Amino acid sequence: MRRARVAIFLSAIIPILAAARSAQDGVYTKDQAIRGQTVYREECAKCHSENLTGGDGSPELTGPEFLSRWNGKTVGALFEFMRKTMPTDDPGHLSMRQYSDLAAFILKANDFPAGEKELDRELAAMNEIRIEAKK
Ligand code: HEC
Repeated sequence: MRRARVAIFLSAIIPILAAARSAQDGVYTKDQAIRGQTVYREECAKCHSENLTGGDGSPELTGPEFLSRWNGKTVGALFEFMRKTMPTDDPGHLSMRQYSDLAAFILKANDFPAGEKELDRELAAMNEIRIEAKK
């Protein structure tokens, strides 16, 4: 019983400790988000709409509702979700770079600031970046 509780505690705390950086720290570049937007228009806008507000059974990818679903999770989790399931009609057919650019574009659309360095394409690095909505 006690051991189970410790395990539960650790599984809750380890991702928090591991996610050392915040998406508020400028974790993608402006150019990368622009590349992401190009991919978005071709691959995603038909369901999630041009301005990311969603529609017809596809959720919005911007705004408080979206952020409340992803707040506290990592950019890596968002990346993996997209890579495994999006677009729903042909999941995973884009390159790692394209999924990473899409993550940058979605961060930009949610007012996370751009920075000097592109978002990494390595999942381990992306797993260290926590999505934190502004308070
Ligand atoms: C054919 C329609 C369709 C296309 C095309 C599509 N999506 Fe989706 N998307 C959905 C649906 C439906 C969901 C909800 C499914 C779920 O939550 O499991 C979703 C969920 C998502 C989510 C999670 C939203 C949330 O708030 O939890 C993200 C992020 C996302 N899509 C990104 C993308 C990206 C990026 C692309 C382009 C590569 C894309 N989608 C293309 C239909 C689509």
